[in-house]
Amino acid sequence: MLGGSAVRGCVAVDDSLVLLLLLPPATGVNLCATMSVFMKICCFVVNALCLPFHILKALGLYNAYKRVFPFCVHQISVKYNKQMYDKKKELFRKVSDFSRPGGQLTILEIGCGSGTNFEFYPPGCRVICTDPNPNFQKYLDKNMSVNDHLVYDRFLVASGEDLSSVADGSVDAVVCTLVLCSVNSIEQTLQETRRILRPGGAFFFIEHVVGEESTWTHFLQHVFQPVMNYFGDGCEINRQTWKQVEAAGFSEVFLRHIQAPFFILIRPHIIGYAVK
Ligand SMILES: C[S@@+](CC[C@H](N)C(=O)[O-])C[C@H]1O[C@@H](n2cnc3c(N)ncnc32)[C@H](O)[C@@H]1O
Repeated sequence: MLGGSAVRGCVAVDDSLVLLLLLPPATGVNLCATMSVFMKICCFVVNALCLPFHILKALGLYNAYKRVFPFCVHQISVKYNKQMYDKKKELFRKVSDFSRPGGQLTILEIGCGSGTNFEFYPPGCRVICTDPNPNFQKYLDKNMSVNDHLVYDRFLVASGEDLSSVADGSVDAVVCTLVLCSVNSIEQTLQETRRILRPGGAFFFIEHVVGEESTWTHFLQHVFQPVMNYFGDGCEINRQTWKQVEAAGFSEVFLRHIQAPFFILIRPHIIGYAVK
């Protein structure tokens, strides 16, 4: 959008415009360095403010939050679904394309949380729910009873990195929404995803990701990363998740970058599906 040798910049006014226009090169470089130092200072300050959380975690007390987190996710996901309704509807409409010849469709959801995606799945499909946090059970049960158009197989308390109780090539679709920001290893989770998918099956995802470099989003995501990490139960808002999805060895990847209608730290999203 902005070109020419006179353009120098490292920070954005908003998420699309580079701030430093038509500055002499040396000024641009100096400002870049200044912004980098400014970001480091901000990161340091926010980290220092998080000290009580660091201490709670070191003492092993942070785990208590895992009991509260499902309540937070449940509340937030209702609002999230309202804002993302059309996007989810459009994406999950594709899931039926991956049914077996007889029409059977088995979906496994990684990090299913409260089961916020159930309403988008096609009637009659079999759903295997997985999440490492067993405290979601109560909210899952609620969503299962509301969405009685599906057949629930089981709730597996497991992380996406280890789905060893699920057989190779046994599911038609794997779903991950707002999960790859929290897993310990995206690579391992995607490896497990490919293992359990049948050939020709598909992996569906909606994930928030890091914003473009040189934007305020990128800057703020780095500064507020520690806060989001604690409140989001391990969520990392500055991941380039699309790179791992594209490198995971799927035969085809249909991925779009979108700006979701949420607050700046989780606005950049990727959405799409990848075929095994
Ligand atoms: C923000 S919530 C999203 C829940 C749900 N997918 C949704 O869209 O509402 C993140 C979820 O990822 C789960 N999670 C965290 N670490 C995980 C891991 N290593 N493997 C699988 N799920 C994980 C959390 O327990 C939580 O349910």
